[in-house]
Amino acid sequence: QRKEKECRKPEEGLKNDLIIRAARGHQTERAPCWIMRQAGRYLPEFRKIREDHDFFECCRNPELASEITVQPIRRYSGLLDAAIIFSDILVVPQAMGMEVEMLPAKGPHFPDPLVTPKDVATKLRKKVDVEKELGYVYEAIKLTRTKLDGEVPLIGFCGAPWTLMAYMVEGGGSKTFEKAKTWLFKYPEESKELLQRIADVCTDFLVGQVKAGAQLLQVFDSWAGELSPADFRQFSLPYLRSIAASVRDILSTKSIPCPPLIVFAKGALGHSLPEVVKAGYDVVGLDWTVEPCVARKVVELASPGKAGFKDASGQNEAGHRLALQGNMDPSVLYAGKEAIEAKVDQMLRSKKGGFGGGGAYIANLGHGITPGVDPEAVKIYLKAVHRISREVNSA
Ligand code: CP3
Repeated sequence: QRKEKECRKPEEGLKNDLIIRAARGHQTERAPCWIMRQAGRYLPEFRKIREDHDFFECCRNPELASEITVQPIRRYSGLLDAAIIFSDILVVPQAMGMEVEMLPAKGPHFPDPLVTPKDVATKLRKKVDVEKELGYVYEAIKLTRTKLDGEVPLIGFCGAPWTLMAYMVEGGGSKTFEKAKTWLFKYPEESKELLQRIADVCTDFLVGQVKAGAQLLQVFDSWAGELSPADFRQFSLPYLRSIAASVRDILSTKSIPCPPLIVFAKGALGHSLPEVVKAGYDVVGLDWTVEPCVARKVVELASPGKAGFKDASGQNEAGHRLALQGNMDPSVLYAGKEAIEAKVDQMLRSKKGGFGGGGAYIANLGHGITPGVDPEAVKIYLKAVHRISREVNSA
Protein backbone atom coordinates (compact mmCIF):
# COMPACT_ATOMS: atom_id res chain seq x y z
CA GLN A 1 0.00 0.00 0.00
CA ARG A 2 2.86 2.34 0.85
CA LYS A 3 4.32 1.78 -2.58
CA GLU A 4 1.06 2.67 -4.28
CA LYS A 5 0.92 5.97 -2.40
CA GLU A 6 4.54 6.80 -3.21
CA CYS A 7 3.89 6.17 -6.89
CA ARG A 8 1.28 8.87 -6.81
CA LYS A 9 3.68 11.58 -5.70
CA PRO A 10 3.84 14.03 -8.62
CA GLU A 11 7.65 13.96 -8.78
CA GLU A 12 7.89 10.18 -8.76
CA GLY A 13 9.84 8.81 -11.74
CA LEU A 14 10.60 12.22 -13.23
CA LYS A 15 13.88 12.87 -15.02
CA ASN A 16 13.25 16.62 -14.61
CA ASP A 17 11.41 17.76 -11.47
CA LEU A 18 12.69 21.36 -11.53
CA ILE A 19 9.23 22.93 -11.82
CA ILE A 20 7.85 20.87 -8.93
CA ARG A 21 10.72 21.89 -6.69
CA ALA A 22 10.28 25.56 -7.63
CA ALA A 23 6.50 25.32 -7.12
CA ARG A 24 7.12 23.97 -3.63
CA GLY A 25 9.14 27.07 -2.82
CA HIS A 26 12.65 25.72 -3.19
CA GLN A 27 15.77 27.27 -4.62
CA THR A 28 16.57 25.74 -8.03
CA GLU A 29 19.74 25.72 -10.09
CA ARG A 30 17.90 27.68 -12.78
CA ALA A 31 14.33 28.85 -13.34
CA PRO A 32 12.09 26.11 -14.76
CA CYS A 33 10.05 27.33 -17.74
CA TRP A 34 6.88 26.59 -19.65
CA ILE A 35 4.63 28.80 -21.78
CA MET A 36 0.91 29.36 -21.46
CA ARG A 37 -0.66 28.06 -24.71
CA GLN A 38 2.63 26.38 -25.65
CA ALA A 39 0.69 23.80 -27.67
CA GLY A 40 -1.13 25.95 -30.17
CA ARG A 41 -1.50 27.86 -33.36
CA TYR A 42 1.99 29.41 -33.53
CA LEU A 43 3.31 25.89 -34.17
CA PRO A 44 3.13 24.71 -37.81
CA GLU A 45 2.88 21.08 -36.62
CA PHE A 46 -0.29 22.00 -34.67
CA ARG A 47 -1.80 23.88 -37.63
CA LYS A 48 -1.10 20.81 -39.78
CA ILE A 49 -3.21 18.61 -37.48
CA ARG A 50 -5.94 21.28 -37.38
CA GLU A 51 -6.22 21.14 -41.18
CA ASP A 52 -7.95 17.78 -40.84
CA HIS A 53 -9.54 17.99 -37.40
CA ASP A 54 -11.98 20.32 -35.67
CA PHE A 55 -10.69 22.01 -32.49
CA PHE A 56 -12.88 20.10 -30.02
CA GLU A 57 -12.27 16.88 -31.95
CA CYS A 58 -8.57 17.39 -31.12
CA CYS A 59 -9.50 17.81 -27.46
CA ARG A 60 -11.76 14.74 -27.39
CA ASN A 61 -9.42 12.38 -29.19
CA PRO A 62 -6.76 11.25 -26.65
CA GLU A 63 -4.34 10.23 -29.41
CA LEU A 64 -4.53 13.68 -31.07
CA ALA A 65 -4.62 15.59 -27.76
CA SER A 66 -1.55 13.77 -26.42
CA GLU A 67 0.27 14.21 -29.73
CA ILE A 68 -0.38 17.99 -29.69
CA THR A 69 0.67 18.14 -26.02
CA VAL A 70 4.10 16.68 -26.75
CA GLN A 71 4.71 18.71 -29.94
CA PRO A 72 6.35 21.66 -28.13
CA ILE A 73 8.28 19.29 -25.84
CA ARG A 74 9.81 17.63 -28.90
CA ARG A 75 10.48 20.86 -30.78
CA TYR A 76 12.10 22.57 -27.79
CA SER A 77 13.83 19.48 -26.52
CA GLY A 78 15.52 20.13 -23.18
CA LEU A 79 14.27 23.73 -23.04
CA LEU A 80 10.72 23.28 -21.63
CA ASP A 81 10.35 21.99 -18.09
CA ALA A 82 6.67 21.01 -18.27
CA ALA A 83 3.98 19.96 -20.71
CA ILE A 84 0.37 21.18 -20.38
CA ILE A 85 -2.39 18.86 -21.47
CA PHE A 86 -3.99 19.99 -24.74
CA SER A 87 -7.62 20.87 -24.03
CA ASP A 88 -9.61 24.05 -23.37
CA ILE A 89 -11.19 25.74 -20.37
CA LEU A 90 -14.55 25.55 -22.19
CA VAL A 91 -14.83 21.77 -21.85
CA VAL A 92 -16.31 22.46 -18.38
CA PRO A 93 -19.34 24.41 -19.71
CA GLN A 94 -19.72 21.58 -22.26
CA ALA A 95 -19.73 19.03 -19.42
CA MET A 96 -22.37 21.13 -17.67
CA GLY A 97 -24.62 20.75 -20.73
CA MET A 98 -23.80 23.72 -22.94
CA GLU A 99 -22.91 23.60 -26.59
CA VAL A 100 -19.64 25.33 -27.55
CA GLU A 101 -18.11 25.61 -31.00
CA MET A 102 -14.78 27.08 -32.07
CA LEU A 103 -15.33 29.45 -35.01
CA PRO A 104 -12.33 29.85 -37.34
CA ALA A 105 -11.68 33.59 -37.05
CA LYS A 106 -13.89 34.41 -34.06
CA GLY A 107 -12.93 31.93 -31.34
CA PRO A 108 -15.38 30.27 -28.94
CA HIS A 109 -19.12 30.56 -29.60
CA PHE A 110 -22.08 29.37 -27.49
CA PRO A 111 -25.16 29.11 -29.76
CA ASP A 112 -27.48 29.01 -26.74
CA PRO A 113 -25.94 31.03 -23.87
CA LEU A 114 -27.41 31.56 -20.40
CA VAL A 115 -29.65 34.62 -20.76
CA THR A 116 -31.42 34.86 -17.41
CA PRO A 117 -30.91 32.94 -14.13
CA LYS A 118 -33.94 30.81 -15.06
CA ASP A 119 -31.78 29.25 -17.79
CA VAL A 120 -29.58 27.65 -15.16
CA ALA A 121 -32.36 25.17 -14.37
CA THR A 122 -33.19 24.41 -18.02
CA LYS A 123 -29.86 24.65 -19.86
CA LEU A 124 -27.48 23.07 -17.33
CA ARG A 125 -27.36 19.47 -16.12
CA LYS A 126 -28.51 19.19 -12.53
CA LYS A 127 -25.82 16.72 -11.66
CA VAL A 128 -22.68 16.53 -13.76
CA ASP A 129 -20.98 13.16 -14.13
CA VAL A 130 -17.51 14.60 -14.75
CA GLU A 131 -15.94 11.19 -15.35
CA LYS A 132 -18.51 10.44 -18.07
CA GLU A 133 -18.41 13.89 -19.70
CA LEU A 134 -14.67 14.59 -19.46
CA GLY A 135 -13.20 11.09 -19.22
CA TYR A 136 -11.56 11.80 -22.58
CA VAL A 137 -9.30 14.36 -20.88
CA TYR A 138 -8.28 11.74 -18.32
CA GLU A 139 -7.49 9.32 -21.15
CA ALA A 140 -5.43 12.01 -22.88
CA ILE A 141 -3.52 12.64 -19.64
CA LYS A 142 -2.76 8.92 -19.19
CA LEU A 143 -1.59 8.56 -22.77
CA THR A 144 0.51 11.73 -22.54
CA ARG A 145 2.20 10.51 -19.35
CA THR A 146 3.19 7.36 -21.23
CA LYS A 147 4.52 9.37 -24.18
CA LEU A 148 6.45 11.79 -21.94
CA ASP A 149 8.00 8.86 -20.09
CA GLY A 150 9.05 11.09 -17.19
CA GLU A 151 10.93 13.57 -19.35
CA VAL A 152 8.98 16.52 -17.86
CA PRO A 153 5.90 16.76 -15.62
CA LEU A 154 2.41 17.23 -17.06
CA ILE A 155 0.21 20.16 -16.02
CA GLY A 156 -3.56 19.75 -15.81
CA PHE A 157 -5.85 22.79 -15.75
CA CYS A 158 -9.31 24.30 -15.70
CA GLY A 159 -10.86 27.73 -16.09
CA ALA A 160 -11.87 29.75 -13.03
CA PRO A 161 -15.60 30.05 -12.23
CA TRP A 162 -15.86 33.79 -13.04
CA THR A 163 -14.07 33.39 -16.39
CA LEU A 164 -16.25 30.40 -17.31
CA MET A 165 -19.46 32.14 -16.21
CA ALA A 166 -18.48 35.12 -18.36
CA TYR A 167 -18.27 32.84 -21.45
CA MET A 168 -21.49 31.00 -20.57
CA VAL A 169 -23.47 34.25 -20.26
CA GLU A 170 -21.77 36.32 -22.99
CA GLY A 171 -21.88 33.39 -25.41
CA GLY A 172 -18.25 34.02 -26.41
CA GLY A 173 -15.51 36.58 -25.95
CA SER A 174 -16.47 40.14 -25.11
CA LYS A 175 -14.95 43.62 -24.85
CA THR A 176 -17.23 44.96 -22.10
CA PHE A 177 -18.65 41.83 -20.42
CA GLU A 178 -21.90 43.74 -20.02
CA LYS A 179 -24.11 40.66 -20.06
CA ALA A 180 -22.10 38.73 -17.49
CA LYS A 181 -21.71 41.83 -15.33
CA THR A 182 -25.45 42.49 -15.53
CA TRP A 183 -25.86 39.08 -13.87
CA LEU A 184 -23.40 39.94 -11.10
CA PHE A 185 -24.99 43.31 -10.35
CA LYS A 186 -28.66 42.49 -10.95
CA TYR A 187 -28.76 38.88 -9.74
CA PRO A 188 -25.88 38.58 -7.27
CA GLU A 189 -27.31 35.62 -5.36
CA GLU A 190 -28.16 33.63 -8.49
CA SER A 191 -24.70 34.48 -9.86
CA LYS A 192 -23.06 33.12 -6.71
CA GLU A 193 -25.07 29.91 -6.98
CA LEU A 194 -23.92 29.50 -10.57
CA LEU A 195 -20.30 30.30 -9.65
CA GLN A 196 -20.37 27.69 -6.88
CA ARG A 197 -21.85 25.12 -9.25
CA ILE A 198 -19.07 25.76 -11.72
CA ALA A 199 -16.47 25.63 -8.90
CA ASP A 200 -17.77 22.21 -7.82
CA VAL A 201 -17.45 20.81 -11.35
CA CYS A 202 -13.95 22.32 -11.66
CA THR A 203 -12.97 20.68 -8.35
CA ASP A 204 -14.15 17.25 -9.50
CA PHE A 205 -12.43 17.76 -12.83
CA LEU A 206 -9.08 18.72 -11.25
CA VAL A 207 -9.22 15.79 -8.83
CA GLY A 208 -9.91 13.49 -11.79
CA GLN A 209 -6.95 14.96 -13.67
CA VAL A 210 -4.65 14.24 -10.70
CA LYS A 211 -5.94 10.66 -10.51
CA ALA A 212 -5.24 10.32 -14.23
CA GLY A 213 -1.66 11.57 -13.77
CA ALA A 214 -1.53 15.40 -13.80
CA GLN A 215 1.54 16.49 -11.78
CA LEU A 216 0.69 20.19 -11.35
CA LEU A 217 -2.61 22.03 -11.76
CA GLN A 218 -3.33 25.55 -12.99
CA VAL A 219 -6.58 27.51 -12.68
CA PHE A 220 -6.94 30.18 -15.39
CA ASP A 221 -8.94 33.27 -14.39
CA SER A 222 -8.30 35.06 -17.65
CA TRP A 223 -11.02 37.69 -17.11
CA ALA A 224 -10.32 38.43 -13.43
CA GLY A 225 -9.05 41.87 -14.42
CA GLU A 226 -12.44 42.88 -15.83
CA LEU A 227 -13.82 43.17 -12.29
CA SER A 228 -13.39 45.99 -9.76
CA PRO A 229 -11.37 45.05 -6.65
CA ALA A 230 -14.58 44.65 -4.61
CA ASP A 231 -16.30 42.61 -7.30
CA PHE A 232 -13.24 40.41 -7.79
CA ARG A 233 -13.22 39.68 -4.05
CA GLN A 234 -16.94 38.93 -4.08
CA PHE A 235 -17.43 37.04 -7.34
CA SER A 236 -14.10 35.49 -8.22
CA LEU A 237 -11.80 35.01 -5.23
CA PRO A 238 -14.19 32.92 -3.05
CA TYR A 239 -14.51 30.38 -5.85
CA LEU A 240 -10.77 30.26 -6.50
CA ARG A 241 -10.45 29.56 -2.77
CA SER A 242 -13.20 26.96 -2.83
CA ILE A 243 -11.46 25.04 -5.63
CA ALA A 244 -8.04 24.97 -3.91
CA ALA A 245 -9.48 23.99 -0.53
CA SER A 246 -11.77 21.28 -1.94
CA VAL A 247 -9.12 19.78 -4.21
CA ARG A 248 -6.75 19.52 -1.23
CA ASP A 249 -9.51 18.09 0.96
CA ILE A 250 -10.75 15.46 -1.48
CA LEU A 251 -7.26 14.29 -2.41
CA SER A 252 -6.28 14.09 1.25
CA THR A 253 -9.31 11.91 2.16
CA LYS A 254 -8.24 9.59 -0.67
CA SER A 255 -4.61 9.64 0.56
CA ILE A 256 -3.49 10.99 -2.81
CA PRO A 257 -0.69 13.60 -2.52
CA CYS A 258 -1.84 17.01 -3.77
CA PRO A 259 0.31 18.31 -6.64
CA PRO A 260 1.36 21.98 -6.64
CA LEU A 261 -1.57 24.31 -7.43
CA ILE A 262 -1.05 27.41 -9.59
CA VAL A 263 -3.52 30.30 -9.80
CA PHE A 264 -3.45 32.78 -12.67
CA ALA A 265 -5.80 35.71 -12.04
CA LYS A 266 -4.95 37.96 -14.95
CA GLY A 267 -5.24 41.67 -14.29
CA ALA A 268 -6.36 41.33 -10.66
CA LEU A 269 -3.02 41.33 -8.88
CA GLY A 270 -2.41 45.08 -9.05
CA HIS A 271 -5.18 45.35 -6.45
CA SER A 272 -5.57 41.87 -4.91
CA LEU A 273 -2.18 40.16 -4.78
CA PRO A 274 -2.22 39.89 -0.94
CA GLU A 275 -5.65 38.23 -1.11
CA VAL A 276 -4.67 35.87 -3.94
CA VAL A 277 -1.50 34.92 -2.01
CA LYS A 278 -3.80 33.62 0.74
CA ALA A 279 -6.24 31.79 -1.57
CA GLY A 280 -4.68 28.38 -0.93
CA TYR A 281 -2.41 27.96 -3.96
CA ASP A 282 1.30 27.09 -4.06
CA VAL A 283 2.14 29.34 -7.00
CA VAL A 284 0.73 32.71 -8.05
CA GLY A 285 1.01 33.50 -11.76
CA LEU A 286 1.67 37.15 -12.61
CA ASP A 287 0.83 39.03 -15.77
CA TRP A 288 3.20 41.72 -17.05
CA THR A 289 1.43 44.60 -15.30
CA VAL A 290 2.90 43.52 -11.95
CA GLU A 291 6.55 44.29 -11.20
CA PRO A 292 8.23 41.06 -10.05
CA CYS A 293 10.27 42.60 -7.19
CA VAL A 294 7.15 44.33 -5.88
CA ALA A 295 5.17 41.08 -6.04
CA ARG A 296 7.94 39.32 -4.11
CA LYS A 297 7.75 41.94 -1.34
CA VAL A 298 3.95 41.75 -1.20
CA VAL A 299 4.12 37.97 -0.95
CA GLU A 300 6.63 38.14 1.89
CA LEU A 301 4.57 40.75 3.75
CA ALA A 302 1.34 38.84 3.21
CA SER A 303 2.75 35.50 4.29
CA PRO A 304 4.47 35.19 7.66
CA GLY A 305 2.13 34.61 10.53
CA LYS A 306 -0.80 36.14 8.71
CA ALA A 307 -4.34 34.78 8.40
CA GLY A 308 -4.63 31.91 5.97
CA PHE A 309 -1.13 30.71 6.70
CA LYS A 310 -0.31 27.62 8.60
CA ASP A 311 2.40 29.07 10.80
CA ALA A 312 4.67 32.05 11.19
CA SER A 313 7.35 30.85 8.78
CA GLY A 314 5.82 32.26 5.62
CA GLN A 315 4.47 28.94 4.50
CA ASN A 316 1.20 28.47 2.69
CA GLU A 317 -1.54 25.88 3.27
CA ALA A 318 0.57 23.16 1.77
CA GLY A 319 3.41 24.03 4.11
CA HIS A 320 5.69 25.54 1.48
CA ARG A 321 7.07 28.93 0.65
CA LEU A 322 4.82 30.59 -1.92
CA ALA A 323 6.23 30.59 -5.47
CA LEU A 324 5.70 33.09 -8.28
CA GLN A 325 5.27 32.47 -12.01
CA GLY A 326 5.48 34.79 -15.00
CA ASN A 327 5.50 37.33 -16.46
CA MET A 328 7.01 38.59 -19.76
CA ASP A 329 4.67 40.40 -22.10
CA PRO A 330 4.03 37.82 -24.88
CA SER A 331 4.37 40.53 -27.53
CA VAL A 332 8.09 40.86 -26.74
CA LEU A 333 8.41 37.64 -28.77
CA TYR A 334 7.74 39.71 -31.91
CA ALA A 335 10.58 42.13 -31.25
CA GLY A 336 13.67 40.11 -32.24
CA LYS A 337 16.60 38.49 -30.43
CA GLU A 338 18.09 41.59 -28.86
CA ALA A 339 14.82 42.78 -27.33
CA ILE A 340 13.84 39.28 -26.15
CA GLU A 341 17.17 38.79 -24.38
CA ALA A 342 17.05 42.26 -22.83
CA LYS A 343 13.49 41.68 -21.52
CA VAL A 344 14.37 38.27 -20.10
CA ASP A 345 17.37 39.85 -18.38
CA GLN A 346 15.11 42.52 -16.91
CA MET A 347 12.54 39.92 -15.80
CA LEU A 348 15.16 37.86 -13.95
CA ARG A 349 17.47 40.37 -12.27
CA SER A 350 16.38 41.93 -9.00
CA LYS A 351 18.44 45.05 -9.61
CA LYS A 352 16.26 45.63 -12.68
CA GLY A 353 13.02 45.01 -10.76
CA GLY A 354 12.92 41.33 -11.76
CA PHE A 355 12.29 38.13 -9.84
CA GLY A 356 15.87 37.68 -8.62
CA GLY A 357 17.68 34.51 -7.74
CA GLY A 358 15.77 33.47 -4.64
CA GLY A 359 14.20 30.41 -6.17
CA ALA A 360 10.46 29.66 -5.76
CA TYR A 361 10.10 30.97 -9.29
CA ILE A 362 8.77 29.55 -12.57
CA ALA A 363 9.49 31.48 -15.77
CA ASN A 364 6.49 31.97 -18.05
CA LEU A 365 4.88 34.63 -20.18
CA GLY A 366 2.37 36.96 -18.55
CA HIS A 367 -0.42 35.44 -20.69
CA GLY A 368 -0.82 32.95 -23.53
CA ILE A 369 1.52 33.01 -26.51
CA THR A 370 -0.20 34.52 -29.56
CA PRO A 371 -0.62 32.76 -32.93
CA GLY A 372 1.69 35.05 -34.95
CA VAL A 373 4.86 34.31 -32.95
CA ASP A 374 7.79 32.76 -34.84
CA PRO A 375 8.67 29.42 -33.17
CA GLU A 376 12.35 30.42 -33.43
CA ALA A 377 11.66 33.44 -31.21
CA VAL A 378 10.39 31.01 -28.56
CA LYS A 379 13.68 29.14 -28.74
CA ILE A 380 15.61 32.39 -28.23
CA TYR A 381 13.40 33.22 -25.25
CA LEU A 382 13.79 29.80 -23.61
CA LYS A 383 17.55 29.74 -24.12
CA ALA A 384 17.83 33.21 -22.58
CA VAL A 385 15.83 32.10 -19.53
CA HIS A 386 18.11 29.08 -19.08
CA ARG A 387 21.33 31.03 -19.46
CA ILE A 388 20.47 34.12 -17.41
CA SER A 389 18.54 32.37 -14.64
CA ARG A 390 21.38 29.91 -14.12
CA GLU A 391 23.69 32.86 -13.65
CA VAL A 392 21.29 34.75 -11.36
CA ASN A 393 20.43 31.69 -9.25
CA SER A 394 24.05 30.74 -8.66
CA ALA A 395 25.19 34.27 -7.75
O1 CP3 B 1 -1.63 26.00 -22.96
C1 CP3 B 1 -1.70 25.03 -23.76
O2 CP3 B 1 -0.87 24.82 -24.63
C2 CP3 B 1 -2.80 24.01 -23.54
C3 CP3 B 1 -3.98 24.22 -24.26
C4 CP3 B 1 -4.92 25.37 -23.97
C5 CP3 B 1 -5.80 25.86 -24.96
N1 CP3 B 1 -6.64 26.75 -24.37
C6 CP3 B 1 -5.78 25.45 -26.35
C7 CP3 B 1 -6.45 26.29 -27.36
C8 CP3 B 1 -5.20 26.05 -22.79
C9 CP3 B 1 -4.52 25.96 -21.43
C10 CP3 B 1 -6.31 26.90 -23.06
C11 CP3 B 1 -6.94 27.75 -22.04
C12 CP3 B 1 -7.91 28.74 -22.45
N2 CP3 B 1 -8.89 28.65 -23.40
C13 CP3 B 1 -8.06 29.98 -21.81
C14 CP3 B 1 -7.25 30.45 -20.64
C15 CP3 B 1 -5.92 30.93 -21.04
C16 CP3 B 1 -5.93 32.28 -21.68
O3 CP3 B 1 -5.33 32.40 -22.74
O4 CP3 B 1 -6.51 33.20 -21.10
C17 CP3 B 1 -9.11 30.66 -22.45
C18 CP3 B 1 -9.63 32.05 -22.12
C19 CP3 B 1 -9.64 29.81 -23.44
C20 CP3 B 1 -10.79 30.04 -24.33
C21 CP3 B 1 -10.37 30.04 -25.75
N3 CP3 B 1 -10.03 28.91 -26.43
C22 CP3 B 1 -10.24 31.13 -26.64
C23 CP3 B 1 -10.51 32.58 -26.27
C24 CP3 B 1 -9.83 30.63 -27.86
C25 CP3 B 1 -9.67 31.34 -29.20
C26 CP3 B 1 -8.65 32.37 -29.26
C27 CP3 B 1 -7.24 31.95 -28.96
O5 CP3 B 1 -6.56 32.64 -28.19
O6 CP3 B 1 -6.74 30.93 -29.50
C28 CP3 B 1 -9.66 29.24 -27.69
C29 CP3 B 1 -9.21 28.29 -28.71
C30 CP3 B 1 -7.96 27.55 -28.44
N4 CP3 B 1 -7.65 26.94 -27.25
C31 CP3 B 1 -6.93 27.31 -29.37
C32 CP3 B 1 -5.99 26.52 -28.72
C33 CP3 B 1 -4.74 25.94 -29.29
C34 CP3 B 1 -6.91 27.77 -30.82
C35 CP3 B 1 -8.06 27.21 -31.55
C36 CP3 B 1 -7.77 26.79 -32.97
O7 CP3 B 1 -6.92 25.93 -33.17
O8 CP3 B 1 -8.46 27.30 -33.85
